[in-house]
Amino acid sequence: MKLPKLKIGSLIAETPIVLGGMGIGVSGSKLAAAVANQGGIGVISGVNIGYNEPDFTTNHLQANIRALKKEIRKAKQNSLRGIIGVNFMVAMNKYKEHVKAAVEEGIDIIISGAGLPIELPELVKNTKTKIAPIISSAKAANLITKLWDKKYNTIPDAIVLEGIEAGGHLGFKKKSIEDNNFNLKETLIEIIKTIKPFEEKYNRKVPIIVGGGIFTGADIAEYLEAGASAVQMSTRFVATEECDASKEFKEMYVNAKKEDVEIIISPVGMPGRAVNNEFLNKIKKGIKPKIEKCSNCLKSCNYNEAPYCISQALINSVKGNVKNGLVFAGSNVYKIDKIQTVKQIFKELITESEKLYKEK
Ligand SMILES: Cc1cc2nc3c(=O)[nH]c(=O)nc-3n(C[C@H](O)[C@H](O)[C@H](O)COP(=O)(O)O)c2cc1C
Repeated sequence: MKLPKLKIGSLIAETPIVLGGMGIGVSGSKLAAAVANQGGIGVISGVNIGYNEPDFTTNHLQANIRALKKEIRKAKQNSLRGIIGVNFMVAMNKYKEHVKAAVEEGIDIIISGAGLPIELPELVKNTKTKIAPIISSAKAANLITKLWDKKYNTIPDAIVLEGIEAGGHLGFKKKSIEDNNFNLKETLIEIIKTIKPFEEKYNRKVPIIVGGGIFTGADIAEYLEAGASAVQMSTRFVATEECDASKEFKEMYVNAKKEDVEIIISPVGMPGRAVNNEFLNKIKKGIKPKIEKCSNCLKSCNYNEAPYCISQALINSVKGNVKNGLVFAGSNVYKIDKIQTVKQIFKELITESEKLYKEK
């Protein structure tokens, strides 16, 4: 059966697939436009997006804002009827300035996690930009919705539930990841129940977008049938011609084996999932790469205590210096064995999920 469209207020995506924002620079305008052109929502990562600007180290904020606006414009020009979003980590310094710049560029949706985006409604007030917090539990979904209801008389336009199998920083304690007692489907069902009274109060649906380990058309059908309105996928879209990362970064994905996927504790203090490489082996041995310049990009990172600069490590890898960089990836990265186009992946996913999907 045909998959339902994803409706977030006035935004209607033909296909219920959202590209998960990937920093630094992995989901830029090229990948976002490609996903939007296939009917999904293309999401640009907004964290340290100015890494290619000549004044990135000397004029950090301005370089980031300039690049952010440029990337949004490019993505929109290259996907004229598509929906483009941006992902901002709440843990970013100058979060508000970034959000305001994206809104000025007419971004369709802001998706925001790595902390609770408490003030986000205020920052998009009286604009058409939709807002979606990223959470990993029903408790957090309830907390942010209750807060927005009370403080701003509004509720999220959508909620992204990110599970334990995702790539990048994870919203779980290391112990919970090791114990693996988290169940994505049960959490989804719990969230749907938690949000219901708010949906009734505001007389509108809050679509739940589920991510973290979604890889096949069967996964998509399974979560839509369980009540999700869409899926969020990242890892699957990295090994594509359109992905904004270097070919070396993509090759790490193609070559990764199951045993290469690791949980690390990032300098930000949060666990994250990455592909093991020379860089991580050096860190494990206590070798500390020289921090060239701290631009104070993340609130929770302390220059004096950090084992390495996460920003520098991510920039190295996205640019191709993977031996000296951090390669974030979701748990299913080892299933990738070739570079495809976004169009091919969409075709595979839609064909398979439509064969299996039955509306409840
Ligand atoms: C390389 C990479 C970078 C990521 N960077 C971010 C980020 O900057 N902000 C964020 O909220 N999530 C980030 N994520 C998480 C994704 O947005 C997404 O929710 C998650 O990876 C989905 O799971 P999947 O990769 O198994 O599809 C990143 C994931 C990857 C693989």
